[in-house]
Amino acid sequence: MPIQSFNPPVRTLMGPGPADVHPRVLAALGRPTIGHLDPAFVTMMDEVKDLLRGAFLTRNLLTMPVSAPGSAGMETCFVNLIEPGDKVVVCVNGVFGGRMVENVLRAGGEPIVVADPWGRAVDPNKLEEMLRAHPYAVIVAFVQAETSTGASSDVPTLVEIAHRHGCLTIVDAVTSLGGSELRVDDWGVDACYSGSQKCLSCTPGLSPVTFNERALAKVKGRATKVRSWFLDLNLVMGYWGPEQRRTYHHTAPVNALYGLHEALVMLHEEGLENAWARHRRNHLVLRAGLETLGLELPVPEAERLPQLNAVTVPAGVDDALVRARLLQQYNLEIGAGLGDLAGKVWRIGLMGYSSRPTNIILCIAALGTVLNDLGHRADTGAALARVQAALAG
Ligand SMILES: Cc1ncc(COP(=O)(O)O)c(C=O)c1O
Repeated sequence: MPIQSFNPPVRTLMGPGPADVHPRVLAALGRPTIGHLDPAFVTMMDEVKDLLRGAFLTRNLLTMPVSAPGSAGMETCFVNLIEPGDKVVVCVNGVFGGRMVENVLRAGGEPIVVADPWGRAVDPNKLEEMLRAHPYAVIVAFVQAETSTGASSDVPTLVEIAHRHGCLTIVDAVTSLGGSELRVDDWGVDACYSGSQKCLSCTPGLSPVTFNERALAKVKGRATKVRSWFLDLNLVMGYWGPEQRRTYHHTAPVNALYGLHEALVMLHEEGLENAWARHRRNHLVLRAGLETLGLELPVPEAERLPQLNAVTVPAGVDDALVRARLLQQYNLEIGAGLGDLAGKVWRIGLMGYSSRPTNIILCIAALGTVLNDLGHRADTGAALARVQAALAG
């Protein structure tokens, strides 16, 4: 049989991302493609930049989506800000902090690691001690929302410590942007990157970044060339930059940017703080249901992310079998544990358009039913009643 058009199954995405894409975003993706230097497109690019400033809560002129996924936003920050030999303190409390270390090495820097247990926030005291021990460090990097564990770190405190020691800051906001409080200007974050596929309810493949004047000055004053042509902001700015005359750098993913534009319009319509509150509210509802099923959330309450819920796999339960049944029988995707947490936790995402009551009800009903089918007793009826009460409350 010849290969035919691909029609994906319709899933509910409650893993670590991508999250469900809003129908308005899917509709926007199908609009007619125009040239990436068409005046109409350039106007839309300006709107995307404005809307992104609203989402990051910044006035930074250099605020734009990198034409590639979150990993490219990460790399943009590291390759542009690090010069060979720079000492960079990286706080590692999960997979993505580990990737930052790799980025430092590949950019020619020297990483200094502040290690924290997986499933815990970055410890500000350890950062302070490390910076005292390494007075020549120039950058501090950390992840606000560690998607691999569900732990949230205290951005303003960590940034304040870094600045007191004369360092610039790189903050990973891939899972936090639009889902938890992030105030780039008020908190003094110097460079920050995110991803389109999480709390923005957009398709994967774009990475919003923002650089303040201090960070930009470091990029512009480099003694060496950026070790990536594609991600060199000195070049990318010719296309996305504030100047009115845009020059060709690469062919922008035109339709993907229509999608991001629509997602950001929706975030603006909802209101950023309302979006943060929705993620928090729905997290509490999900938590009520999970706890009534007898499941535990291993991250301490004060450090939990609302949009990514780590859940301990109960003893004797086959992690992979549960996930496979959820997918096959309920078209429901939840995430597996990564790295040190593989087989030990599930990761249940409530990000962006996925963060809504119907998804919570489906997840609790399906998870409870599958657990019982596999011989692990869980009171699905009571859990659904708790969810209903929490939603009503
Ligand atoms: C915290 C964090 N940083 C970076 C990334 C990388 O983003 P992407 O997979 O879009 O390249 C992810 C992806 O899940 C993430 O969760």
